[in-house]
Order: sequence, then structure tokens, then C-alpha cells
Amino acid sequence: MFWKRVKELPRTLTFRVGVWYASIFLISAVLLLWLVYFLLGAAINRKDRDMIEARLREYVSVYQHGGIPTLRDWTGRVNKARAQRMFFVRVAKSDGTVELVVMPEDWSEHDLDMLGDGTRVLPKGWTRIVRDPEMDLTVASTILQDGTIFQVGRSSESRSILLAKFRQVFLVIIVPVIVLGLSGGIILTNRMMRPVRNVIAAAMAIISTGRMDVRVPVRAADDELRDLAVLFNRMLECNEELFRALRDSLDNVAHDLRTPLARLRATLEDALQDQKKQETVQEYIGQALEETDRVQTIIDTLMEVARAEAGLMKLRIAQTDICALIKDAVELYAHVAEDKNVSVATQFSNGCSAAVDAVRMRQVFANLLDNAIRHTLSAGQVSISASPRDGEIEVKVRDTGVGINETELPRIWERLYRGDKSRSEHGLGLGLNLVKAIVEAHRGRVEVSSVPCTGSEFRVYLPFSKAVT
Ligand SMILES: Nc1ncnc2c1ncn2[C@@H]1O[C@H](COP(=O)(O)OP(=O)(O)OP(=O)(O)O)[C@@H](O)[C@H]1O
Ligand SMILES: [Mg+2]
Repeated sequence: MFWKRVKELPRTLTFRVGVWYASIFLISAVLLLWLVYFLLGAAINRKDRDMIEARLREYVSVYQHGGIPTLRDWTGRVNKARAQRMFFVRVAKSDGTVELVVMPEDWSEHDLDMLGDGTRVLPKGWTRIVRDPEMDLTVASTILQDGTIFQVGRSSESRSILLAKFRQVFLVIIVPVIVLGLSGGIILTNRMMRPVRNVIAAAMAIISTGRMDVRVPVRAADDELRDLAVLFNRMLECNEELFRALRDSLDNVAHDLRTPLARLRATLEDALQDQKKQETVQEYIGQALEETDRVQTIIDTLMEVARAEAGLMKLRIAQTDICALIKDAVELYAHVAEDKNVSVATQFSNGCSAAVDAVRMRQVFANLLDNAIRHTLSAGQVSISASPRDGEIEVKVRDTGVGINETELPRIWERLYRGDKSRSEHGLGLGLNLVKAIVEAHRGRVEVSSVPCTGSEFRVYLPFSKAVT
């Protein structure tokens, strides 16, 4: 287990971010150390030159006051007083005669050759002799008014020594820097990745156990990772809700089909037992076929409603004249209305065009008209009107029928609900359920108001021409 985790470490984001973090940390440290080294080198160099310049001025002044003997005494005293790194001094006449040479122990004749033998005039200013990787010699030269050449120098620790020392220091520093960078990076990213790991753990728990109530713990810090956890939880809630709805629908469909199927079975059993007359058998078969059609219609309608509610109903949207669709439905029910002696009146305003699926919307109006005619007594009236209103089209289907009492009113949209008064008539109790689903799939809405024994009014509101997908 442990080794498996160690093996998988390089492919984890935590490790990779840790390495990035350590690399950035390391590069920054190297740049910083290099800058320190460069500035330090420059500072030491400047300090050395300041000292040499001061000594040069001092020796020139001693020479000008007392000549070579005094200068020799002076340099002897100075060099004796200083235990370390004595100054090199050379005084030469313009003709090349060397009047004084003070050679510190760490200087050699060779260095002198490199500085020139004094016969030629050295340029005023600084000469730097890199003797070996361990030693630099810095000499300041000046020419007095009488032509005397004055040179004062000093050996200085070479930059390479400084560099070597720095390398040692660097090596000592760099190891903890890498360890610190890597562990700091891993600790930080580990903390940062915790919410992501929680999301992964929740997803794994759902997959392995099938439990839909698992949620990701939400952090207190108000940041993007908290948003991720909140959104993930919201998505899980939606999924759980959908899953529950799906299960309920399946349960309901099974329940709803049980009654017609039981009736179908009973009819067939009766037919089996009662085989005397051919006509009776025919009658049973006829009843069985009716029940089969009923089951078929229930399944088809339930599927349509389920598709519409899930937003999966395929709508062929086109700009359509709503009045024309209503006229079609009225024409379809003209005979039924005539048979029942119910008059159907229409009233249309201009500008009733909306982006709808014509076939589905015709189904809506036909269902409403069917209900209105069915629940209106002889000599009653049904009227349908369509008019634009506040950015939508309002279609009203009004009847002077039996009406719906207050307790039934909220239930009429439910699947397979049939009012008490309708039980005797044939019907499935799915018409209004489908009407609501289709209208809502068009981003519209339905309303109803009814007064028992006086009549009902169903209202459909459709958005004008809003594109519906
Ligand atoms: N215009 C109306 N007047 C009075 N009651 C109505 C009216 N429209 C609907 N209802 C009541 O609402 C119930 C549900 O109507 P719905 O259209 O869903 O089913 P149905 O007409 O009984 O059957 P289906 O439409 O599936 O053939 C009806 O059974 C009826 O009781
Ligand atoms: Mg109906």
C-alpha cells in the first residue's frame, strides 16, 4: 500500500506542483546568491583600491618631504606594524633607475617583470595582474611632477578564491533550499488539493456504493475550491432528485398499468371459461382489444409527458398562426359539439403568431376543447379566444359546463387524475397532464379558474416568438 502510493507519487499533481515550487525556489535562491557574490566582489575590490590609493598618497607625501631615505624608513615601519599583506612600493626615476623597491613576501621577481622594469613609463592608473587562480595583484601608478614614477600595490584575494568559498557556502545552502522548497511545495499543494481529493472521494463513494446522498465537505474559506465543492454538491442534489423522479415515474407507470392489464386478463379468463356462444367470445375479444388500445394509449401518452417534462420532446418550432390552429381544433370537434347541442364560438385578435410546434399545439387546443365540450350540458356554450397580451399570447377556452370544485381544481393537472363526475365517461385522465407538459416545453404556462355548476375557463399563455429549443 505504502509502496504503491510512493510509486504513484510522481504522477500526482501535488508532487508535480511541489517540484515546480522547489525549482522556482531554487532558481530564485541561485540568482540571489549570484547577485550577493557579484556585489560582494565589487565591494571588496573597491575597498582594496581605496586602501592602495590612500597608501600611494601617503608615500608620495613622505617622499616629497624627506626623499628616498625617509620613505624607506617609513615603509619599513609600516610593513612591520602590519603583520599581513604588506604593500609593494617601487620608486623609479624617469631615466629608468629604480630608487626603491619594497617587495612583500608574497610577491616575486616575475610579478615585477609583468609590471615593467621601470624604464618605460607605465600608464597612470590601475594595473591588475592575475598571477594565478589564487592571487591577484593590484597596482596603482602615478608620475610626479619631476618625472618620478611611483607604484604602490597589494596582493588581493582572487575572485576565484571568493568564488570557491562561495561555491562551498552555496552547496551548504542549496541542499536545505531544495529540501525546504520541495517539502514546502508538497505541503502547500497537499493542502490546496484537499478539496479536489474530497470531490474524487465523493465520486468514488457514489460509484462504488451507489448511494446518492454522499456530499463533499465544504470549506470555510471563500474561494474557487469552495465554489467547486458547493457546485459539485448542487449537481449531486440535482442528480439525486432526477434519479428519485425517474424511480417514482417507473413505480407510477407500473402501478398505472396494473389496472388495465388486470382488466384485460379478467376479460380473457372470462372468455376462456365461457366458450359456449361464438358471439360471446367475439364480445370478449372486442373488450380485450379495447383494453389493449387503452394500455397502448396510456404508455404512449405517459412517454410523451415524460419526454416533455425532461426537456426531451422533439419540437419542430416554426412561427405559426395560433388562430389557425384553434380553427383546426374547432373544426375537428364540430360534429361532437353538434351531437351534444353545444355551440362553439371563437374570437381572435390580430397578431397572434408565435414560435411553436404546430402539431403539438393543435393537440393542446383539441384536448381543452374536448374537455370543455364533454363537461358542458346540452344547449351550453363553449368559446375560444386568442389575443396578444404583455409579450405573450393568451388563449382562453371557456365553457358553461359543470365546473370543477375547489378541492379538485389543483389535482386536474395530475397524471391519470379524473374528476368524480367524469368517472362514468370514458377517458384516461392524461389530457391535461399532456397539455401542461407541452405548453411548458414551449416555455409557456397554463391556468384554470372554475365555478361549480357555472363553468370553467382554461388559459394558455405562450411566449410570442421566443426561440424554443
Ligand atoms: N372543462 C372542464 N370542466 C369540468 N371539468 C374538467 C374540465 N376539464 C377537465 N376537467 C376535469 O379534469 C379531469 C382531468 O382532465 P383530463 O383531460 O386530464 O382527463 P380526461 O378528460 O378525464 O381524460 P383524457 O383527456 O385523458 O381523455 C377530468 O376528468 C375532469 O374531471
Ligand atoms: Mg381530457
